[in-house]
Amino acid sequence: PLVTVAELLEKAEEGSYAVGAFNCNNMEIIQAIIEAAELEKAPVIIQASQGAIKYAGIDYIATLIKTAASSSSVPVAMHLDHGTSFEQVVQCIRKGFTSVMIDGSRLPLEENIAVTRAVVQVARAVGVSVEAELGKIGGTEDDITVNEWEASLTDPEEARYFVKQTEVDSLAIAIGTAHGRYKGVPRLDFERLKRVRELINIPIVLHGSSGVPDEAIKRAVELGVRKINIDTNLREAFTAAIRRALSDNPQEIDPRKILGPAREAMREVVREKIRLFGSAGKA
Ligand code: G3H
Ligand code: 13P
Ligand code: ZN
Ligand code: NA
Repeated sequence: PLVTVAELLEKAEEGSYAVGAFNCNNMEIIQAIIEAAELEKAPVIIQASQGAIKYAGIDYIATLIKTAASSSSVPVAMHLDHGTSFEQVVQCIRKGFTSVMIDGSRLPLEENIAVTRAVVQVARAVGVSVEAELGKIGGTEDDITVNEWEASLTDPEEARYFVKQTEVDSLAIAIGTAHGRYKGVPRLDFERLKRVRELINIPIVLHGSSGVPDEAIKRAVELGVRKINIDTNLREAFTAAIRRALSDNPQEIDPRKILGPAREAMREVVREKIRLFGSAGKA
């Protein structure tokens, strides 16, 4: 069934594990995520980014996720990833999203608070949960100095103030992860995570989690991360499987013989992540 992220994260908090939030762009990815969650008996979050909405269209994405969730034995939340505006959030709520992210991290603090608050007000009225972002979770392609890196991370005191002012349900923080593939091994600021956790009493979200070593993910979960976003690792599995299918069978023209293996490969990645996050068997 379709549920809110808040409901999933509340249970994750009680059980001290994290729920996987996987990005989707098409039917095969959604099916891979659902099949994995069913096999692992795990709650799961399926999320759509700006790019996904642009590529597939919001109606296709929403309908596909709802179809997957309606027949699933595990709880599934439908989440907007990195929502850009109040207007977009309202559109997604109308389309049936049970959770939304409003990403005001590029804005000055008070503007981020203002837009997040406005979103919390409308979302709460209809039982939709809200994730916000404080600090800047960049891309791995961003070329920044050490000082700029420090400055981009979430300030714990600011996080406390932000949560108090916005009453948001969960908070994405910057502790050294980045979207996309890492060039080297990412270094996570666990001391900062600890401090944030001491100062705020809502679930913490980790973005850019593809490519973060398993041990670091486990540590982050121990320290209070309750939602973990994964996109890049699914893209890698998808693309590698398609390359293999095409090179093993250059004459193949049936899309199902090409996309089918890709779906299976993504399913296995999602299963591994679910186990790593500790959410297997928690449905
Ligand atoms: O937040 C970033 C996700 O990996 C989605 O990126 O907008 O290219 O789909 P995208
Ligand atoms: P990765 O692509 O690095 O896994 O990041 C995903 C993400 O944070 C989506 O919001
Ligand atoms: Zn993200
Ligand atoms: Na990443």
